[in-house]
Amino acid sequence: MTSIDKKKMIAVYSWKESVALILLFNISFNASDRLSGLQVCSLCGGKVPNGTAAGRFCSQSAGRIDGRCCLRNDSTSDPERIIGLDLSNCSLTRVENLQDASEALMIDLSLNPIVNISDDVFQGFFDLKCLILPKDIVCPGGNSSWQKVEIQKGNRLCEGQKNMCNQTGQMSLNCPENSLCAPYGPGFYECSCAENYHGYKCLREGTFPVLQVFGPLALSAVVITFLLWVTQRRKAKSL
Ligand SMILES: *[C@@H]1O[C@H](CO)[C@@H](O)[C@H](O)[C@H]1NC(C)=O
Ligand SMILES: *[C@@H]1O[C@H](CO)[C@@H](O)[C@H](O)[C@H]1NC(C)=O
Ligand SMILES: *[C@@H]1O[C@H](CO)[C@@H](O)[C@H](O)[C@H]1NC(C)=O
Ligand SMILES: *[C@@H]1O[C@H](CO)[C@@H](O)[C@H](O)[C@H]1NC(C)=O
Ligand SMILES: *[C@@H]1O[C@H](CO)[C@@H](O)[C@H](O)[C@H]1NC(C)=O
Repeated sequence: MTSIDKKKMIAVYSWKESVALILLFNISFNASDRLSGLQVCSLCGGKVPNGTAAGRFCSQSAGRIDGRCCLRNDSTSDPERIIGLDLSNCSLTRVENLQDASEALMIDLSLNPIVNISDDVFQGFFDLKCLILPKDIVCPGGNSSWQKVEIQKGNRLCEGQKNMCNQTGQMSLNCPENSLCAPYGPGFYECSCAENYHGYKCLREGTFPVLQVFGPLALSAVVITFLLWVTQRRKAKSL
């Protein structure tokens, strides 16, 4: 049971509260993305090398290579979605923020002198199907969060992310009553309130006070966006 005790529950919100939070974060992240570009693709010089796992993955999925990223090659998605990320052999000692690549299907961090990586780095990466790490780094969420963990050519391969809500039905017990479980990256799951329940631990029943919650959130989104815009402009000016 210890492996299960380690799993973390992210939050308990009703779907309307989640939508409000997601909107808030999207607005502020989009604003900063647009101003800074997809930084994760240039964390390391050069382009995705041809022969690597990410290079092969990208040509198989007909992606477009941009720096160290493989982007989904359809013009309709905006901002562009990173489906693969190759940061192998980049002299990285720490990995902290890969949020730009949170929708990636594969990430390669091999051949880096990384000491440890917090599980939190991959929180929300629920599409991640293949992660390649230096062999001394454990797979995020531990072995029990992956279908297959193996050492191959001196790298650790974490393959097939397991759904934390579907571990013989046990995990869903960790979500409070009146809530639904959803995967939220390796080792993580998220509980969201069922219809007609809201508030902390989904204990409140009835209509959700839309205006009281959305009003202040919308206002703070505007304020944050404005602040980001101002600080980025300052930075740009001072360069
Ligand atoms: C990478 O491989 C593709 C197809 O195999 C080839 O067209 C391209 O020239 C190669 N690029 C480099 C930099 O070797
Ligand atoms: C890693 O990078 C170094 C220099 O940047 C290069 O000499 C070496 O061949 C690379 N290793 C691999 C496996 O690509
Ligand atoms: C990584 O390891 C160092 C020492 O080995 C430790 O101080 C640090 O807290 C660790 N960081 C994480 C994110 O586990
Ligand atoms: C996880 O899997 C790897 C590879 O199969 C193995 O070497 C390692 O001992 C396992 N770790 C744990 C904690 O079970
Ligand atoms: C849950 O696991 C079972 C057996 O492991 C599988 O048949 C089923 O499709 C899974 N359901 C989901 C939603 O992943």
